[in-house]
Amino acid sequence: MNRKVVLSGIQPTGNLHLGRYFGAIENWVHLQNDFDCVYCVVNYHAITMPYNPVKLQENVWELVYNLLACGVNHESLFIQSKIPEHTELCWILSCMCSYGELSRMTQFKDKTDQVKEKNKDSFVSCGLFTYPVLQAADILMYRADYVPVGKDQDQHLELTRNIAQRFNAVVGKDYFVAPEALYTETPKILSTADPSKKMSASAGDKHNIDLFAPVDTIRKQIRSAVTDTGERSDTMSAGVENLFQLLKACKQTAIYNELLAEYSNQTLSYAVLKDHVADAVIQMVQPIQDRKKEIIADKKAVKDMIKSSSMNIRERAIATLNEVRSLTGLN
Ligand code: TRP
Repeated sequence: MNRKVVLSGIQPTGNLHLGRYFGAIENWVHLQNDFDCVYCVVNYHAITMPYNPVKLQENVWELVYNLLACGVNHESLFIQSKIPEHTELCWILSCMCSYGELSRMTQFKDKTDQVKEKNKDSFVSCGLFTYPVLQAADILMYRADYVPVGKDQDQHLELTRNIAQRFNAVVGKDYFVAPEALYTETPKILSTADPSKKMSASAGDKHNIDLFAPVDTIRKQIRSAVTDTGERSDTMSAGVENLFQLLKACKQTAIYNELLAEYSNQTLSYAVLKDHVADAVIQMVQPIQDRKKEIIADKKAVKDMIKSSSMNIRERAIATLNEVRSLTGLN
């Protein structure tokens, strides 16, 4: 049986925190059971924003170790720049995508503002403008049927489908598959320090709980989570709900139900709730942290492994490019 292809990409920026784990990576790991999965560390995308080359290199490998520790199969994982065909396909597709379409991308507008805010001397790169075309290349390269992404990537996926259609029209053949987003119900985790915000790396250290932080730090962060003012209210505060979400995400259903009942009876102590959440999170991250220790004990072996999986996946990219070159008259 031919399994459907799933493709996703992750930026090698920021740390791997609980929000990113529950929101994406855990799902990536599950999808491996049912699909032909291709997962990409998108370092070409990472250079569209002002960046530091030494740090980028470090971040890429750190992310690789982290993803492997979380259970991503090494055969499914590659580093984007190890497959330069992505840039060639990106160029060809950029000629099948209009300037107007790209100007309407909201992520481009948001990131343009970010660049300007951060440093008035930095510039908005052309790469940032064509970022969505490179993403389309990532997806179309492997004829992905499904792309597991968050809602924020809807516009990019829609554009990918348009580009695929235009390509097919230009070459007169139904060559590219129009991919679909794969929405899986994933827990949305908020910042424990400020539950009005999503948990995120960019908001600062206290706004995310790193999967690989020392367990004492994790416990401390959860203990200091914002809950509510203690006043009676009909609705659960975002902070308390977030703690319950974490319990559920860690699959502690029995404790979840028990504490929820206590909450309803107004007998729940938030200190007790936090202790349970901390225990659950630590129990969840412990084996992942242990696996990471084993992985980084032999970094060279991991690097060789990923280079070789990248080479295997590259074969698929080369096959696509051969066909694309001949369909587009660039042979
Ligand atoms: N733009 C995506 C993000 O910011 C990352 C990405 C790059 C991606 N290429 C992709 C996601 C291909 C899915 C498929 O999260």
